[in-house]
Amino acid sequence: MLHTGSPEVIVDDLVRTPAAVADAERWTAHNYHPLPVVISEAEGAWVTDVDGKRYLDCLAGYSALNFGHRHPSLIAAAHAQLDRLTLTSRAFIHDQFATFCRGLAELCGKDMVLPMNTGAEAVETAIKVARKWGYQVKGVPANAATIVVADGNFHGRTTTIVSFSTDPSARDDYGPYTPGFKIVPYGDLEAMDAAIDDTTVAVLIEPIQGEQGVIVPPPGYLQGIRDLCTARGTLFIADEIQSGLGRTGRTFACDHEGVVPDMYVLGKALGGGIVPVSAVAADASVLGVLSPGSHGSTFGGNPLACAVGTEVVRLLGTGEYQRRSAELGARLHTDLSALIGHGLIAVRGRGLWAGIDIDPSLMSGREACERLAEHGVLAKDTHGSTLRLAPPLVIEPAELDWAVERLAAIL
Ligand SMILES: Cc1ncc(COP(=O)(O)O)c(C=O)c1O
Repeated sequence: MLHTGSPEVIVDDLVRTPAAVADAERWTAHNYHPLPVVISEAEGAWVTDVDGKRYLDCLAGYSALNFGHRHPSLIAAAHAQLDRLTLTSRAFIHDQFATFCRGLAELCGKDMVLPMNTGAEAVETAIKVARKWGYQVKGVPANAATIVVADGNFHGRTTTIVSFSTDPSARDDYGPYTPGFKIVPYGDLEAMDAAIDDTTVAVLIEPIQGEQGVIVPPPGYLQGIRDLCTARGTLFIADEIQSGLGRTGRTFACDHEGVVPDMYVLGKALGGGIVPVSAVAADASVLGVLSPGSHGSTFGGNPLACAVGTEVVRLLGTGEYQRRSAELGARLHTDLSALIGHGLIAVRGRGLWAGIDIDPSLMSGREACERLAEHGVLAKDTHGSTLRLAPPLVIEPAELDWAVERLAAIL
């Protein structure tokens, strides 16, 4: 069932918002700079703030809300599970576990999965598995393993992951940094080839760099990495946390080049916008290196997460969300491209996912987001004058058109 929503916005005086913003500022660390929008309810592609003003959500929790807010079948799965069993730890097996793991493994075309909670944990899992694989299978000398990553990457916030970030705001003052990573320019296969040596256990990249501004690599890049990894005996890890699960119009962004990585890293939409659920998916020859006690998580693969995750996998199995993303994405990119030269200087992306560069002489990305919010559209800036648009895949064509009209209006 698709959600519908009216592109009509009720613009009330924002009475409760300023106090709620001030309270949040007072009681939390300032590791984010949120827009002054205080959301209290949501359904489908729409959210409502504490003052009753409605906004079209064109960020969708950085793709964690691919199925929209409170998708009926996901909410039903969560409710049913809440009434039966919520947590066991992995000390025991529960009746939702195998169903979810099998469904996700089959969706990925892999032998098995390892469920975790957040995206960063799944990336950490992939790094640990790759290193173990390197020592146990490839025969890399102890503690010599290296992983090749791309500049402009965003894989999460743990100490190890920020060690190979090239973004000073994510990395600075968190040293000493974890060694064992080589950074090469994104999109540059020659540099990647040169960086791979006998110690390389994996290449870890985002098939599309979301946080960096929805950067789509040159055609053939993913296939080139696949070929390099196969030829040089190293693992190809695709971080599809943001790009996967329907966002680009295919189940995985790698599908656009018909490429299958050795390990998928998944998160965000896997939790259906309800609970944090992440996972790595790989064949037994890779995930088989883990043994009892070598890795784990109290909450990873909990019954509630698995029940919701199973429904996410079922929804993706229908193909409806991938199709909507492809069709509506084509419409979005055509409409956005028409704004180039009229306030926009570039548009990138795939499916219902766009990075747009606003003419910096007009306004910053932050100003654009503030103005869009005033006009009833939520989006997020990144790096100067770039905006990310990633509406829920349940958005209706008229709503999408309306969002682009709002964008044109503020430009
Ligand atoms: C590609 C990618 N990897 C990893 C992460 C980290 O996920 P989380 O915030 O759930 O730890 C993100 C989050 O934006 C991401 O976009």
